[in-house]
Amino acid sequence: MHTKGALLWEPGTNSGWTISDIEIDPPKRAEVLIKLTASGLCHSDAHLDTGDIPLPYKPVLGGHEGAGVIQEVGPEVHDLKVGDHVVTTFLPSCGVCRWCSSGMGNLCDVGAGVLSGFAPDGTNRIHSGGQPVGAMSFLGTFSPYVVAPVSGVIKIDKDIPLEKAALVGCGVPTGWGSAVNSAETGVGDTVVVVGTGGVGINAVQGARHAGARTIVAIDPVAFKRDMAEQLGATHAVEDFDKGIALVRDLTNGVMADRVILTTGVAYGDLIAPCLELTRKAGTLVVTAAAPAMQTQVNMNLLDLTMSGKRIQGALYGSCNARVEVPKLLDLYRSGALKLDELVTRTYTLEEINQGYTDMSEGRNLRGVIVYE
Ligand SMILES: NC(=O)c1ccc[n+]([C@@H]2O[C@H](COP(=O)([O-])OP(=O)(O)OC[C@H]3O[C@@H](n4cnc5c(N)ncnc54)[C@H](O)[C@@H]3O)[C@@H](O)[C@H]2O)c1
Ligand SMILES: [Zn+2]
Ligand SMILES: [Zn+2]
Repeated sequence: MHTKGALLWEPGTNSGWTISDIEIDPPKRAEVLIKLTASGLCHSDAHLDTGDIPLPYKPVLGGHEGAGVIQEVGPEVHDLKVGDHVVTTFLPSCGVCRWCSSGMGNLCDVGAGVLSGFAPDGTNRIHSGGQPVGAMSFLGTFSPYVVAPVSGVIKIDKDIPLEKAALVGCGVPTGWGSAVNSAETGVGDTVVVVGTGGVGINAVQGARHAGARTIVAIDPVAFKRDMAEQLGATHAVEDFDKGIALVRDLTNGVMADRVILTTGVAYGDLIAPCLELTRKAGTLVVTAAAPAMQTQVNMNLLDLTMSGKRIQGALYGSCNARVEVPKLLDLYRSGALKLDELVTRTYTLEEINQGYTDMSEGRNLRGVIVYE
């Protein structure tokens, strides 16, 4: 089919997104065509533009946080049908690899190929001017239509507004799961969330639901701190110095049980202050994505040994999306999980660069593209 999409023709050069004419092939085996209602503007797509996450191909159709209605199903699709409402997951889970079979669908071997640019079968679905176009996360939700593998599509109930459900494709489970699963937040814990944007705000929500007594948000942007306090943070400060002093005071010097790093970019020099915030035998969860070429991390290695602290990486909040996505939407329906408050502003596809500027300048908790 003929449609349009927001492409990076020169990824890694900060050139921004260009709305381009694209052709999308019909769904092949185990794939569906989705007419999207909305797509979230996650920071991970911005990493493709800045080059923090380098790509081995160009151009690329961005976007991975989508929700919409199935329009067509390919051969051998048994459990999805035309008209179903669905959320796309930025990491598919095949259900049969070693990682999926042991409850770690976020580490699926098929999902490991999401930056390859190809569909899981190694071919392209998208073309522009006769040239193959790579798709972010096997998807490319910066287009009103997406052909997706069924392993990356989750059926949801029809009463959930699709514009809000889109956020449950990435930002919400990533942040929520970082607090609940990866950090294993417990009742009474002190939790610090460093960077309360689209992902971190959901770590705040997750920590609150897991029973944390004290939740400290650290973010330089006043609007983000206000939102963090609205959605569950007990305290909010603008930088590490204030955060460390506050947590020391609140815990009589013990420091935080869990610290979750969800800044826009994970730099190596953020690890030392995060570990300073972490108590003995506490856990630092690293969810933010670092520049791929960065190999240097500042930290006191002797202190790590002597204090028995843990540094835990977290992909997709250590979630099994097929379990967590419907659960999170149930919590939304009951009012326990806030989604409406996360969408600061909606944009047309043509306004995508404005959406990313608003994100980088701190005006958005989450910007969302809404299609007609
Ligand atoms: N691990 C995963 O599975 C996964 C999934 C999705 C996104 N991510 C990554 O998570 C990160 C956050 O994504 P997002 O969409 O929430 O981005 P965002 O831009 O919406 O939020 C980042 C927040 O960090 C704040 N910040 C920046 N520097 C800071 C600092 N030094 N101290 C404290 N706060 C600071 C910003 O003000 C902003 O509020 C990105 O790196 C993204 O790529 C990871
Ligand atoms: Zn994302
Ligand atoms: Zn798998």
